[in-house]
Amino acid sequence: MNLSEYLAQANALADECRALLAGLDVATRLDTAKGQLNALKDDRLAALQGGLRALPAEDRRAAGGAFNTLKLSIQEALDAFAQRQSAATGTTAIDATMPARGVWRGSLHPVTLVIDEICEIFRELGFTVALGPEAETEWYNFGALNFPPDHPAMELHDTLYLGEDTLLRTHTSPVQVRTLQRYAPPVRVLAPGQVYRRDFFDATHAPAFMQLEGLAVDEGVSFVDLKATLAEFARRFYGATRRVRFGPSYFPFVEPGAQMDVEVDLGDGKGLRWVEILGCGMVHPNVIEAAGLDSEKYTGWAFGMGPARIAMSRYGINDIRVLYDSDVRFLEQFAR
Ligand code: DAH
Repeated sequence: MNLSEYLAQANALADECRALLAGLDVATRLDTAKGQLNALKDDRLAALQGGLRALPAEDRRAAGGAFNTLKLSIQEALDAFAQRQSAATGTTAIDATMPARGVWRGSLHPVTLVIDEICEIFRELGFTVALGPEAETEWYNFGALNFPPDHPAMELHDTLYLGEDTLLRTHTSPVQVRTLQRYAPPVRVLAPGQVYRRDFFDATHAPAFMQLEGLAVDEGVSFVDLKATLAEFARRFYGATRRVRFGPSYFPFVEPGAQMDVEVDLGDGKGLRWVEILGCGMVHPNVIEAAGLDSEKYTGWAFGMGPARIAMSRYGINDIRVLYDSDVRFLEQFAR
């Protein structure tokens, strides 16, 4: 056999295989088709493979290439048949009795859901979102916020220090000062973020948790703006008929300081009761000055709340630790 005979045989075999498969009815089972194909090609393919060695060395390369092409075109013809078959019958071995796989639906964490919802309400009221660092300096976390130098919150047993002057922020209030340094009033921002305290991890405390800070500063801003805005927030978040009340409270960075309580049903069968949901107040003039603004010209109000506690009151959760467990049986309830 010389090269041209070899190539002619290879071409002929490819053509016959294609013709065989193209001529089969789609109802032919795939293994039957393969059986017929093998009967046609196996011996001749083996002969062609053996024939390679019989060829003169200079022809082997061309013949080897033709042999490989032949095998490929047989496989392609077989694939084409299988495709024609499944297109015609519309079945690729479907077992309609097999139980369906459960569909896994992810969800946002309940605390994230609450934060998103609160940010959305305040966005409608004219607030944007601001962020600050979790590793803070003592000045931003305490000094600029009018904490006296010997305030107990600054003690090592309450605050996690990273170094001489750096610490893990104990609240999101430092974002107030950072925002006022960066943007000229009017300022209306919401600052959600993680905060850290040296607390035991029990049913009502976690050493790391989210807070949500709010700040509004401009000329002529008064306590009326604070009350109106926060009460409107509560109406939108808890429902229009829910009652709210304000009472006095103390934080060094506000004067006067207040807290807002909302009547909520904790889902424990005891009905509505007053729950404190945030601390607030008029920004202390010392804080306005620390940020480099004129406290005679600018006034403002601020608030801080714990979205975890709000999520707990909303969803009837009585142990804060489930918010940290990452147990999908708990978390998947919030998928929608
Ligand atoms: N930073 C306070 C805390 O961690 C919460 C707070 C209270 C923030 C009153 C405020 C505020 O902005 O006006 O307990």
